[in-house]
Amino acid sequence: MKHPDEATDVVDPALSDDSAPLAREIADLTRRRRALSAQVLPLPPTTRVFTVANQKGGVGKTTTTVNLAAALAASGARVLVIDLDPQGNASTALGVEHRAETPSVYDVIINDEPMAGVVQRSPEFETLYCAPATIHLAGAEIELVSLVAREQRLHTALEKYLEESAEPFHYVFIDCPPSLGLLTINAFVAATEVLIPIQCEYYALEGLSQLLSNISLIERHLNPNLAVSTILMTMYDSRTNLANQVVADVREHFPREVLDALIPRSVRISEAPSYGQSVISYDMNSTGALSYREAAAEIAHRGVQH
Ligand SMILES: Nc1ncnc2c1ncn2[C@@H]1O[C@H](COP(=O)(O)OP(=O)(O)O)[C@@H](O)[C@H]1O
Ligand SMILES: [Mg+2]
Repeated sequence: MKHPDEATDVVDPALSDDSAPLAREIADLTRRRRALSAQVLPLPPTTRVFTVANQKGGVGKTTTTVNLAAALAASGARVLVIDLDPQGNASTALGVEHRAETPSVYDVIINDEPMAGVVQRSPEFETLYCAPATIHLAGAEIELVSLVAREQRLHTALEKYLEESAEPFHYVFIDCPPSLGLLTINAFVAATEVLIPIQCEYYALEGLSQLLSNISLIERHLNPNLAVSTILMTMYDSRTNLANQVVADVREHFPREVLDALIPRSVRISEAPSYGQSVISYDMNSTGALSYREAAAEIAHRGVQH
């Protein structure tokens, strides 16, 4: 007797009819690769601090943080990633140690340890650094409640670190947990720019107004320099009408913020972290890496124009 699953084992027509589109795709990738390698990215005159936030989980915050940081570092910028998610996925993807006993962002935020004591260089690129998260950070949300200046702790530590660094950093990316709690508030207070990754899915815009109203509360009460500068559409699948519709909707609402670059759904992107790598070093010329490099280039150029 056949197993019930085998009955549905037919070839997907979208996969069997791929020869002409494939040739086109290869030509397109070659063109994009050439365009990228022809450009030199400008460096910002002062450090740009981004908080990568969206209270939804699984929308691509960590993937975006790691790959934009890697793409900018690959282009010669000095980049720091602050992992503010107790899961420590950004630390893993950057190949940085984050066992429970590793000095981490937890010690900085809760125990007032200097950030210089926890930052590690990522083996990915010479100019890429990471302040790792450990599992202790899971308790920080509650421990923070009773601390003095509980919203400003990351800001104070980061300012001091940036001031005292022998060589200036060009970019800082803070990877947030999927919530709008005190850790994320610390990230908003420490940053000047918010980068929101939005997944090209039906419920993409759900929760966005709550996120934006929280950001404007922070702007009014805690950090007047904060602005949503960048929106990046992730996990885009050009074959679906839905993805194209979502992109069109978001562009209509946020014409200035949404980057032209779209991040495709890509196996390379999702498998890179299991090798402790960004997709930039894992497969530099894959479509996922090219898209993140294009997004990084736009961010670099926009920063100079602002
Ligand atoms: N463009 C993409 N293509 C394929 N998989 C992706 C892509 N972006 C993210 N993923 C995968 O989706 C999952 C959630 O992404 P992640 O960056 O961890 O989201 P978040 O940090 O918002 O929770 C991860 O398993 C990641 O590898
Ligand atoms: Mg994450």
